[in-house]
Amino acid sequence: MNNFEFYNPTKILFGKGEIAKLKNELPKEAKILVLYGGGSIKKNGIYEQVTEALSHFEWMEFGGIPPNPEYQILVKALEVIKKENITYLLAVGGGSVIDGTKFLSSAALFEGEEPWDILKNKIRTEKGMPFGTILTLPATGSEMNSGAVVTNTETNEKLGMGGPGLFPQFSILDPSVVSSIPERQIANGLADSFTHVLEQYMTYPVDAILQDRFAESILSAILETAPKIMDNPSDYKTASNFMWNCTMALNGLIQKGVPTDWAIHAMGHELTAFYGIDHARTLAILTKSHYTYNLETKQEKLAQCAERVFGITEGDEKEKAEQCIEAIEEFFLSIGISTTLSSYTDEFEGTAQKIAKRFTERGWLAIGELGKLTPEHVEKIVEMSY
Ligand code: NZQ
Ligand code: ZN
Repeated sequence: MNNFEFYNPTKILFGKGEIAKLKNELPKEAKILVLYGGGSIKKNGIYEQVTEALSHFEWMEFGGIPPNPEYQILVKALEVIKKENITYLLAVGGGSVIDGTKFLSSAALFEGEEPWDILKNKIRTEKGMPFGTILTLPATGSEMNSGAVVTNTETNEKLGMGGPGLFPQFSILDPSVVSSIPERQIANGLADSFTHVLEQYMTYPVDAILQDRFAESILSAILETAPKIMDNPSDYKTASNFMWNCTMALNGLIQKGVPTDWAIHAMGHELTAFYGIDHARTLAILTKSHYTYNLETKQEKLAQCAERVFGITEGDEKEKAEQCIEAIEEFFLSIGISTTLSSYTDEFEGTAQKIAKRFTERGWLAIGELGKLTPEHVEKIVEMSY
C-alpha cells in the first residue's frame, strides 16, 4: 500500500426530511447566497423546503448556473458576492451547481486579477469562502470532495480545480429528490459514479486489500441499483442506495494508498468542451478504448474485477480482462448510454488530433497511473472510440 493522508471534513446529513435541518448548519450571522441551476428546484418542491429552512436568515439567490458551469456566468455571481458582502454560499443542485459554488468559494477570496487563473494556472485553494450543499442529483460526489470542474465558453476549455479549502462544510442528501430526476440524468449518475470507481481501481495491484474490496463493493452496488432506479426513481429505498453509492464513489476514501488513473476524465472533459456531450457519456465513450489500449498494464485488475464484480470465471487472465471490458460496455448500453463518439456527433474526424494537440500545449505529457500516456497515446485512444 502507498503512503497517504486522509482528510475529509464534510458533514453529511442523509435521509428524508433532512433539508429542514439546514437551519442548524448555517452560522446565525451569515449573509447567504443561495445558488442554483436552471430552475428544476422550483418545480419539485426543493426550493420551498430551502426557503422555509432559511426563514430566519439573511439571504439572496442567484439562479441560472448551467450544466457544465460556465465561468462567464459564475463571474456575475462573484460580482453579487462582492457587492452584497456575502459571507456564506449555499449550493442547491447537482454537480454543476456545487462545482460552480466551489469556484465562487475560491474566487471570493482570490487576490489575483483574473479568477480564471485559478484553473489555468492550477492554483490550489487552501482557504475558500465557507459553503454548504443540498444535493439534488446523485452523480459526481462533488458534495463530499474538494474538486470542481469549470467551463470557459470563450476558449472552449473545461478545466479542474481543487484544494483542501474546497470541501463543503456540510451536505444534505435527501434521496426523495431523486424522484423528479429525468431518466437521462439518472443514467448519467450511474455511469459517472461507476467510472469514478474504475478510475481509482483499474490500475495495477498494490496489495491494498480493503481499498480493492471497497471499490468492488461500490461497483457491485451500482450494478445492483441500476436497473431498479432506471425503472422507478420514486422508490425511496433504491434512491437511497443510488445516492450513497454516488457519494462514496468519489469522496476520496477508496483512492487512498492506491494508484489512480483519471485519464478517461481528462480526455472526456475535452469531448464536453468541444461537443457539449454530457460528462458521464464522454466517459462511456472512452472507457472501452482506454482499457483495450492499456490492456497489458491493467490486465491483472481487469481480471480481478471480472471475477469479483461480474462473476466471470472462464478463461485465462487476459481473456477475463477482455470479458471485463465487454461487461463494462454492456452496463453502459443497458442504461441507454451509447459508447461511440460517432453516435453523439457527425463531426468526430480530427477530434483525436485536436485533443492530443491541447494536451501537448498544456504540458500534459504523461498521464495515467503510470505517468506514461503521452499525447500520441491519447490520440490513438480517442481515435479508437469513434
Ligand atoms: O439546472 P437544473 O434546472 O437544476 O437542472 C439540472 C440539470 O439540467 C437537472 N437536475 C438536477 N437535479 C434535478 C434535476 N432535474 C430534476 N430533478 C432534480 N432533482 O439535471 C441536469 C444536470 O445537472 P448537473 O448538475 O449538470 O449534473 P451532474 O451532477 O452530473 O454534474 C455534472 C458536472 O459535474 C462535473 C462534470 O464535469 C459536470 O460539469 N463533475 C464534477 C466532479 C467533482 N466536482 O468531483 C467530478 C465529476 O467527474 C465531474 O467531472
Ligand atoms: Zn466524473
